Amino acid sequence: MSAMNQDRKTLIVANWKMHLNVHQSSLLLHRLNERIKIHRNIEVILAPSMLSLQPLSLELDRRKFKLAAQDAYFKDEGGYTGEVSFAMLGDLVEYCIVGHSSRRIYFGETLETVRDKVQAAVRNGITPIICIGETKQDRDAGEGRQVIHDQLTTALMNVTSRDLDKIVLVYEPVWAISTFDGIMAKPDDVEKAIAYMRMQIRELYGERAATKISILYGGSVNDTDVHGYLEVPGVDGALVGAASLNYHQFSAMVDVAYRMRLKV
Ligand code: 13P
Repeated sequence: MSAMNQDRKTLIVANWKMHLNVHQSSLLLHRLNERIKIHRNIEVILAPSMLSLQPLSLELDRRKFKLAAQDAYFKDEGGYTGEVSFAMLGDLVEYCIVGHSSRRIYFGETLETVRDKVQAAVRNGITPIICIGETKQDRDAGEGRQVIHDQLTTALMNVTSRDLDKIVLVYEPVWAISTFDGIMAKPDDVEKAIAYMRMQIRELYGERAATKISILYGGSVNDTDVHGYLEVPGVDGALVGAASLNYHQFSAMVDVAYRMRLKV
């Protein structure tokens, strides 16, 4: 029997990263639309580039897909050339990825930047999908837990118990991401890290919050190994990178999640 928690939805997020122009994004959406069915307990969330959000929002079937931004700036408006705010995204997306490892590593986002972005998301009615995870160096130095603890507690610093209902967490071990030449994480490692994250939530917000919050797996997955991660106790879905650009693979992953929920 699958360990999937029946009280929480399964979330499958496609992070297209900096790939696909508007036309290509639209084409991929159409391909996915042909293959993916509406599932009551499964939410399929697409995170295209900022440029494609508006056109896709007009094209997509909202019963089937939700939209997420990949990032946004924490100020609501002002002289911040080149940035897009959560306030501007308010009518367009339900979700926004916050603190993705590429933001932390390539763009120097600090614990405090991530905290401010989480606040801005909540303030503007957008659910942040907060990525938390240690690098290979952290892991080799035996500091994985500490990094998870610091990232999680800082990100949630100003989040109230009520706001927590509109937060999604991701365990994103940087050492298991293809962009950073990662290796496959063992289900056992994922289970332990996610249990640790839930324990932190329990300490900060209590038992009910710890059972309620959705935590996804954000290391590399594909259609052949996603089942193994989705059946890890405590995992409520996946944040998919490279494999989400392939419509065969991504729709197959959604299908795996669907079958797993049917089986329970
Ligand atoms: P890949 O699936 O591309 O390895 O990355 C995972 C990830 O970063 C999801 O956001």
